[in-house]
Amino acid sequence: MTRDTGLADTVVLDLLGLHGSLGSPVIESMNFLNEVSSRFPDAVSFAAGRPYEGFFDIEEVHRYLRVYRDHLMERLGDEVLVRRTMLQYGRTKGVIHDLVARNLLLDEGIDVDPESIVVTVGCQEALYLTVRALRRDGRDALLSVFPCYVGVAGAAALADMPLLPVVGSPEGIDLDDLVAAVHRARADGMRPRALYVVADFANPSGVSLGRATRERLLALAGELDLLILEDNPYGLFHGEEERAPTLKALDPGGRVVYLGSFAKTGIPGARVGYVVADQRAGNGLLADQLAKIKSMLTVNTSPIAQAVIGGKLLANGCSLRAANARETRVYQGNLRHMLDGLRERFPPESRVSWNTPEGGFFVVLDVPFPADDELLEHSAREHRVLWTPMHHFYGDGLPRPQIRLSFSHLTPDEITIGLDRLARFVARRCEAP
Ligand SMILES: Cc1ncc(COP(=O)(O)O)c(C=O)c1O
Repeated sequence: MTRDTGLADTVVLDLLGLHGSLGSPVIESMNFLNEVSSRFPDAVSFAAGRPYEGFFDIEEVHRYLRVYRDHLMERLGDEVLVRRTMLQYGRTKGVIHDLVARNLLLDEGIDVDPESIVVTVGCQEALYLTVRALRRDGRDALLSVFPCYVGVAGAAALADMPLLPVVGSPEGIDLDDLVAAVHRARADGMRPRALYVVADFANPSGVSLGRATRERLLALAGELDLLILEDNPYGLFHGEEERAPTLKALDPGGRVVYLGSFAKTGIPGARVGYVVADQRAGNGLLADQLAKIKSMLTVNTSPIAQAVIGGKLLANGCSLRAANARETRVYQGNLRHMLDGLRERFPPESRVSWNTPEGGFFVVLDVPFPADDELLEHSAREHRVLWTPMHHFYGDGLPRPQIRLSFSHLTPDEITIGLDRLARFVARRCEAP
């Protein structure tokens, strides 16, 4: 069907004739959250969960490329091969898999065969590949701790896979609810294939699973015959306290598919992530099956982007823990500043409360009114402060009396200004009839 616009005939497509996910609020969320900050550039944004930009340095990108090139030259001993590796189409599973494996061993105590790693275009592609592979037919479902990262809800929607909620708790996950959700799904004729969980400083809740909960979850996954998709972009950003090992490091039986991202620990614009899929599938590994899907989706992860991240890994002895010491100090300082600032501005009688994560990028605030996108726009326009309504992490559009505050990309002064504005907004809102 065409319509005369005065300039040219334009084809008009009925949204109902396109993929079902395109009408879903889940898919709208990512764009909405990215776009709202750009519409109010003078607002302080507690909405965007972006890494801190203060240490971005383009010269470092050049240095990392050189470090990686020299490393390849040493390994391959032939300039033609070096140029081909960095500039030509390449191996579908990626070219820095050996460096990623070393990084996992050093920083997380995860010991895996480099062949089980697929280097992806961000963690988001890793999520999609995994969910796509696990969906055989309409009975397959994915479980996720709720509220959940919008990217997993989006990946499930794109793969036509129902996302079944498991109740989150102050311990990270309500394990009784996990058992009930699996039994309920099976009674309804569904096949729950895997549970998605961010065990360290989750997005949006900021909550982490303690070691005992991790061990119990792994045991339950075995009893329930579930895979676990462990997504860990924030694990390195913690304080002095000891962190529990990742689920993957504690996993004796290959239940855990591990999803990694260099967006927070490497360079976000490089768009490099990975999946460790060391489960056996067919004659090879699950990673080989994921690579087949990748070969028809993005073909390769840009070898130039991999070279930059590979160079950063090599320049830091393959450990990103020490390489992120400055960033960790910023995030920890911002977290303390945020929690102190909330305490100063919201006494108990304000009916505002919040959780107190020990790391990561996010804090969740309970407020005495439902918070929706309209209220966010009002807050941005009238008070010049942005935050994220929590309904985005439930995917149902139902306003809840909760907001997510991100502090990762701000300076302490900006946090102070933002919290002053937030306190005024909340006070006005509480006065409103
Ligand atoms: C839990 C979680 N997983 C994955 C990602 C995205 O990773 P990437 O940028 O590597 O696609 C994010 C980014 O915000 C996230 O919060």
